[in-house]
Amino acid sequence: MNACVRAVVRSAVGAGHEVVGIYRGYQGLLEEDFFIAADSQPHMVLRSVSNLGKLGGTVLHSSRSKEFREEAGRKRAAAVLKKHGIDALIPIGGDGTFHGAVALADHWDGKIVGCPGTIDNDLIGTDYTIGFSTAVQTAVEAVDKIRDTAESHERMFLIEVMGRHSGYIGAYTALAAGAEVVCVPETATDIPRIVEHLHVLRKRGKSSVMVIVAEGDELGDAAKIKGELTAAGAPWAIRTVVLGHLQRGGTPTPEDRILASRCGDFAVRSILDGATGVMAGVIADQNVLTPFQETYSRHREIPQHLLDLLAVLSK
Ligand code: F6P
Repeated sequence: MNACVRAVVRSAVGAGHEVVGIYRGYQGLLEEDFFIAADSQPHMVLRSVSNLGKLGGTVLHSSRSKEFREEAGRKRAAAVLKKHGIDALIPIGGDGTFHGAVALADHWDGKIVGCPGTIDNDLIGTDYTIGFSTAVQTAVEAVDKIRDTAESHERMFLIEVMGRHSGYIGAYTALAAGAEVVCVPETATDIPRIVEHLHVLRKRGKSSVMVIVAEGDELGDAAKIKGELTAAGAPWAIRTVVLGHLQRGGTPTPEDRILASRCGDFAVRSILDGATGVMAGVIADQNVLTPFQETYSRHREIPQHLLDLLAVLSK
């Protein structure tokens, strides 16, 4: 997200505009909690974002605002924007952030163009979301390390990755790390079938197995699935690891930095062209604007060919 903030500032300031950095998203807006530059003014200048692209997390912080969920809160947020002469907003976030943007537009006539910032990769209107690549990188590194233990101790590991409603991180991690099984909410987790497959793998001489479990799997979390696999006779001793928030930090990958830079710059240019109510994404290497409502209108399915590939490789 920092690379996106940097791009917004450099692009907008470069075009002669002033940028106000709002801390903690909508909650910070309600509290008029703005970034103060070295000149003690509430704005972000070119030097405010120096060397930001390589930092994980977000220097502007993030929060979930209860007050903004209420209409009264959004009215007050609109009043704050007017009070400070802010005429355009670039929220960086996922579906919750964009729901908020749509609701804010009922009370505020400034322009709003969002950037896709979520590790879940669950938005329509962009091939990838900012943070996804880094989260997968972290998860893959962890799985690679755990594989060493699994191999030496001849064990099976269930590794739970993030993705509250989405199996994208799970599927990509499983493919990249060469996991044998993935459990994601998009496909039915069939315990007897998995156990049957595990027996085949064992007979073929496999000494370790990695099962990637998306936290949002319809059958439950890694602990629950471990219980079911054990009860169904899985032929390995099972351990579970929950990667959790480890996946939301760390040095961003080049892919994430470039995507974030593109989206931030495109959001600024789109606002200057008169766009509003849309998310700036990248599809097939092209900058694309998608109405906020469409970005969260339906579940983003994992391409079946990726899941098929995993099955082909799991030998
Ligand atoms: O929505 C992004 C996400 O990272 C999910 O994958 C995860 O379930 C959730 O946020 C965790 O949220 P929190 O940090 O509030 O527990």
